Amino acid sequence: MKGRGLEIEEMVAAAERAAGRAYAPYSNFRVGAAVLTEGGAVYTGCNVENASYGLTVCAERNAAAAMALSGAREIRRVAIVSPDASPVFPCGACRQVLQEFGCKEVVVREASGVRRYPFSEILPHAFGSESL
Ligand code: THU
Repeated sequence: MKGRGLEIEEMVAAAERAAGRAYAPYSNFRVGAAVLTEGGAVYTGCNVENASYGLTVCAERNAAAAMALSGAREIRRVAIVSPDASPVFPCGACRQVLQEFGCKEVVVREASGVRRYPFSEILPHAFGSESL
């Protein structure tokens, strides 16, 4: 990955590809997420729904789980994309999971283009391991 701009575009493209794998027969709302680790690797996830609705897992948490499986523990940035709506921000539960892995930035696609938000704006006054 070369420049930061290109890196972000690549993440958005990876999230978009992941959204194409969404399993969302109940909501028809497809979401893809790509997390970039501090080591420079990208892991993706899509939302996976269930007939028992509450068992649905969001794209962001599935991306974080894929990252964790690799052994990585630090998220530099997450990009979230849906072909069905824009922008899509992470739900409250996913914000807390992204916080767990030190996420520093959230990238969403808005009508005007890709926009970056500091994570502290997305989840201010976060509860984390340092709070214990
Ligand atoms: N969803 C995500 O995957 N990520 C978000 O940030 C918002 C919501 C999913 C969960 C469910 O499958 C569908 O979108 C509708 O809520």
